[in-house]
Parts: sequence; structure tokens; C-alpha cells
Amino acid sequence: MRGVLRRIKRKLTWRLFYSAEERRHSLVGPARLWRMKRDFQIAFLKKAGLEPRHHLLDLGCGTLRGGIPLIDYLETGHYFGIEARKDVLDEGRRELQEAGLAAKKPCLLAGKDMSSVDLAQDFDHIWAFSVLIHMKDRILRDTLRFAAAHLRPGGLFHGNVNIGDRPDRSWQGFPCVSRPLAFYQEAAADCGLAVADLGPLTAFGHRVPDKSEEEQAGHRMLRMWQEDGGAPGPDAGSIGSP
Ligand SMILES: C[S@@+](CC[C@H](N)C(=O)[O-])C[C@H]1O[C@@H](n2cnc3c(N)ncnc32)[C@H](O)[C@@H]1O
Repeated sequence: MRGVLRRIKRKLTWRLFYSAEERRHSLVGPARLWRMKRDFQIAFLKKAGLEPRHHLLDLGCGTLRGGIPLIDYLETGHYFGIEARKDVLDEGRRELQEAGLAAKKPCLLAGKDMSSVDLAQDFDHIWAFSVLIHMKDRILRDTLRFAAAHLRPGGLFHGNVNIGDRPDRSWQGFPCVSRPLAFYQEAAADCGLAVADLGPLTAFGHRVPDKSEEEQAGHRMLRMWQEDGGAPGPDAGSIGSP
């Protein structure tokens, strides 16, 4: 009985104090930060050179918190999203309908085992926002191999990581990991990818109000590209100006 009352109380609080968007996007992160995290993603990718004609793969696209403005910006059929949790992707499909963007025909796939996925499509940009931090080491390696196989020559793979060596924590059934930069450099090199650490997310406008600058300094954006695929070159470690 007490359990039932607690659940009703929680549901009421949730409905009274959180907007529909906050409730939906709480499936992929802190409810109150969903707008900042949405705006951050498209702003970052545009600075990194994303153009409407490009093909983009959003790895771990979740509820399309970041995906909606990207689908809007890209040409029809140029956005691909993969998400491990089917129920979360279903929320993303509802988000797409409500945003009136179904006609942009994004390709949305449920799946988490990158070692068995072949999309028969390669990409100018692969994007993994707050996803690599939730991967066990073996899954990370499969994902890097998958990315290396699906990047166009000159294509870029961006993903944020937590640099450090804290013990693993957990988040919504996934681990939450921090690893030294050398770990990512080695794992990427094994797959033929070069890595540049572009700096803390805060440098690109990602701000979490209740975390100190020091805490956020370890949340870093990595850029990866095929070592033998031409492009990035001398500017690999910098991001174009807005
Ligand atoms: C923190 S959320 C971020 C969602 C989205 N990128 C965004 O920023 O709005 C991480 C998402 O990655 C998904 N995920 C975790 N591991 C994955 C995997 N191996 N393949 C695909 N998705 C994965 C989770 O289910 C979750 O929805």
C-alpha cells in the first residue's frame, strides 16, 4: 500500500513540476538540462563543419533530444540514428512526429551491438553525445571499429568522454566510465583512427550549473578520423570558428 502511494506521489510531482519535454528527455539525462544539451549539439556540429548535404550518424540518439534540430537542418534522409533501448527510441519517434519532421525521413534503428551492424551507408559525421561514457570497454572497441568502417574519407567522428580514472559508476542500467586519454588513443589506433582532444565541453558552451569548472574540465570532446583517410591534417585538433 505504502509503495503504491509513493508511486502515485512521484507521478503527481513529476506531472506538476516537470514539463512534457523534461519528462521525455529525462530518459537520456537531467530533465532541466535538455534544452541546453539540444542547443549544444547542433551548435557544436555546425562549428565542426556539418553542412545540410552531409550524412550524419547519431550513435545513441535516445529520445532525439539532440536529433531534432539535426534532422531539421540536414537534407531529407541524411540523418541516421541508432539507439540501444527500443522504448527510448519509441519516445524519439513520438518526438519526431510532434516536431512535424517525419517528412525528413530520418533512418532510426534500434540496436546496441555495433559488431553486427552494417548500414550500407557511410558518413561525413558520426556523433556520439554522452554515449561513449556509457560503454563497457569491449563495446567501446566494437563501436570504434564500426565508426572506422562507416566514416567517409575525410569524415569526422566526435564523441565526448570523461578523462580520468575514477571507478565506474552506473546510470540507467549502463556503466558511467572515466578513462585516461591514452586508453582512447590506443583503442582508436587499434581501429585505424587518429584522435585529437578538442578540450572541455565548457569551451564549446556546454554548461552544467551545479558542477564546478574543475569538475567539468574532465568532460572532453574527442575528434577521430581515419588515419589513412586524408583530410583533417594540421587543423585536426582545432574546431572552425562559428
Ligand atoms: C546520455 S544518453 C544521450 C542520448 C543522445 N545522444 C542525446 O544526447 O540526447 C545515452 C544514450 O546512449 C544509448 N546507448 C548506450 N549504449 C549504446 C550502444 N551500445 N548503442 C546504441 N546506443 C547506446 C543509451 O540507451 C542512451 O539513450
